[in-house]
Amino acid sequence: MSTQSLLTVRDLNVVFDTARGRVPAVRDVSFDLAPGEILGLVGESGSGKSTVLSAIMRLLPGVAVTTASAMRFRDSDLLTLGGDRLRGIRGTGIGLIPQRPMTSLSPVTPLRKQLRWFLGDLPQSELEDLLDQVGLRAVAERLDGYPFEFSGGQLQRLLIMLAALARRPALLLADEPTTTLDATVQAQVLRLILDLRERLGLGVVFVSHDLGVIAQVCDRVGVMYGGRLVEAAPIGELFDRPRHPYTQALLRALPSRYSRGQRIKVIPGTAEGANRAPGCGFAPRCPRADDHCRRQEPETRLVGTSLVRCHYAQNTGEAAA
Ligand SMILES: Nc1ncnc2c1ncn2[C@@H]1O[C@H](COP(=O)(O)OP(=O)(O)OP(=O)(O)O)[C@@H](O)[C@H]1O
Ligand SMILES: [Mg+2]
Repeated sequence: MSTQSLLTVRDLNVVFDTARGRVPAVRDVSFDLAPGEILGLVGESGSGKSTVLSAIMRLLPGVAVTTASAMRFRDSDLLTLGGDRLRGIRGTGIGLIPQRPMTSLSPVTPLRKQLRWFLGDLPQSELEDLLDQVGLRAVAERLDGYPFEFSGGQLQRLLIMLAALARRPALLLADEPTTTLDATVQAQVLRLILDLRERLGLGVVFVSHDLGVIAQVCDRVGVMYGGRLVEAAPIGELFDRPRHPYTQALLRALPSRYSRGQRIKVIPGTAEGANRAPGCGFAPRCPRADDHCRRQEPETRLVGTSLVRCHYAQNTGEAAA
């Protein structure tokens, strides 16, 4: 392991063992994050992105069985850490912006009181300064209200403030942080994250289904499919030379590639069952798949500067035209 690593994840597997059966949600996911690096995670709904973040934070429910050969934040072993040390790392070491803000807030407690739980008794001027940085200066006087009196985007920005700013974490796990925000506020939040990276060396795992947003902020991208990381590459490489057929299909489906009135290209089939297939999970939808793909799960290979899980990914790559 490099001593430079802020976060190390090796062979992470998460299975949800429910009354309705076993769901292998994350399978053999490995990656490293350096201080100041922003790693994007993309992939279809249900591909395991949020589960990866919850596993790192050790926030998965009891039905989840998590195994990994290593999961470290700096020198702390996230697999064995418990009690006060785990609580200490959450918030001050690692900040999480959850995908659903409402589930992190109490609906029956005024916001000001909830902010105090996180921040202690902060002088009003410091609180206003924090609110200002996420474009919420205008609500500073209304904090005695309850969460339902605020818009979804306002609550999302409050959580961004708590996770990314208030306690100065070294690592931010951001799960679709800008999805509910309009374009101008989204730009403001992205700028804030980039600024924190510049000033404080913040490392970020940034989950988004929006490749346009990923392209604006990320240094590297991991593409998930059926619980597996099928491709991980520097951002320019991923867009210029996508190696995995799923990544290629994803880029071809970007709406911006089509002018008005044209049909948006969809990836045929669904990801249903991809996390249970014996061979490559993408094989049922892949134009190149053969019997070998359907039988044998591909290992991760280095192709150029990309890590790819495909038997047939080639060094020449393929433009996503
Ligand atoms: N608590 C749970 N119990 C059982 N299965 C779960 C649980 N949480 C997630 N799953 C399953 O794990 C898989 C991965 O879910 P996850 O929420 O990580 O996907 P995601 O990539 O974040 O999707 P989205 O883009 O919709 O947020 C899905 O099949 C989901 O149904
Ligand atoms: Mg999710």
